[in-house]
Amino acid sequence: MDHFTYRDGVLCCEDVEAGALAEEFQTPLYVYSSGTLREHYRRLQAATAPLDATICFSVKSCHNLAILRLLKDCGASFDVVSGGELRRVLEIGAAPSSIVFAGVGKTDTEIAYALDVGIGWFNVESEAELVNLGSIAESRGVTARAALRVNPNVDPKTHVYTTTGKRETKFGVDLDRARKVFCDFDRRPGLDLSGIHLHIGSPVNTVEPYVEAITKTLALIDELSRLGHVVSAINIGGGFGAHYDGSEAPAASVYAERIVPLLKGRSLDVMLEPGRSTCANAGVLLTRVLYSKASGDRRFLIVDAAITDLLRPALYGAFHFAWPVAPAGRLVPPRRSGDLKLDGTGRVDIVGPVCESGDFLAKDRWLPPVERGDLISLFSTGAYGFVMSSQYNSRLRAAEVLVAGNRARLIRRRETYDDLVAPERV
Ligand code: LLP
Repeated sequence: MDHFTYRDGVLCCEDVEAGALAEEFQTPLYVYSSGTLREHYRRLQAATAPLDATICFSVKSCHNLAILRLLKDCGASFDVVSGGELRRVLEIGAAPSSIVFAGVGKTDTEIAYALDVGIGWFNVESEAELVNLGSIAESRGVTARAALRVNPNVDPKTHVYTTTGKRETKFGVDLDRARKVFCDFDRRPGLDLSGIHLHIGSPVNTVEPYVEAITKTLALIDELSRLGHVVSAINIGGGFGAHYDGSEAPAASVYAERIVPLLKGRSLDVMLEPGRSTCANAGVLLTRVLYSKASGDRRFLIVDAAITDLLRPALYGAFHFAWPVAPAGRLVPPRRSGDLKLDGTGRVDIVGPVCESGDFLAKDRWLPPVERGDLISLFSTGAYGFVMSSQYNSRLRAAEVLVAGNRARLIRRRETYDDLVAPERV
């Protein structure tokens, strides 16, 4: 599932010892494995090959330029949700025509920017946005190619905050309204409304919700075609799972087994927007223990990473397996799951320095004895990890390192106090 393994009792990323990286680049430190990124991308590519699908890596999940470049070299296109993300993919030389631009609240400035660079698709979320997109495009003398995001009202059975395909969420337009939207906007000047987009949630660890959502959407496409509208493309979004607590995510081939037959032979260009499934297992967050203290029956390990570096546990109650980089007694974890309770371990909460009780990275974990100065690795943090970091408490954002074989390269330097105050020197 990834290239983070214990060798002789110490954690390695590919052929580099994690401890050496923490020594050289300090902590907190995000470490990514190029081999893992490539492997996950290639598995999805192979699984969807019968569809000749365009894989638009979802930049929001991990936006470092070096990682985007690596995925572009694997053949990826990109899914962006802001002018900032668009700037990132243009920076690495991605072909604008292969980029899809999603998001419920694109500003006029972002739309104009995307039109000016010749973006491939706008994934449009409402009638109001279509009106705006059409008029901005017309005023610039261009045509915007648009895919209407539909909300298929399917339960992806994931966290409520990352459920997007149910009717009560703010995303897309429901299937009934979609028909009318095509009637109203199909031949508007400035618009080429010829695609359908859906994204039901994230992570979706079963295949059934995709089957249901795609089946409903294909019925809509058939109906639209009977009404004389030409839909040439379907974008089925992202949401494919990753391994956090054991190996809970279906393999790319398992999703594909059910999804490919639905779409094959339909004369539709197929697009996907995977993020997490490509990069979550390709990253770890290394943090150093500052202090250990007891309070009542609890023992806290206070580490130098915080919610400012990894928000997921606080925001979603997300589980990230945590284990020392060089465990005492070489106690290597046989698997990475929440129920691990080996002999010689004790129960701890791993918390950060931020002034909030919600600042925790892991709770109720059974870890080998750990001392001040020891390193802990938080696994499966390559997706929605660094990208959701902040400077709250005026903390400096972490550095990022990319490993390939026995080489490690700094791909984002640690922020400095000058970075912190520079934008306010106005
Ligand atoms: N396409 C659209 C329209 C999306 O909204 C998303 C994610 C994706 C694709 C990529 O989904 P993925 O393949 O990465 O699951 N911060 C949360 C996840 C939020 C996902 C938002 N949208 C987390 O840490 O779990």
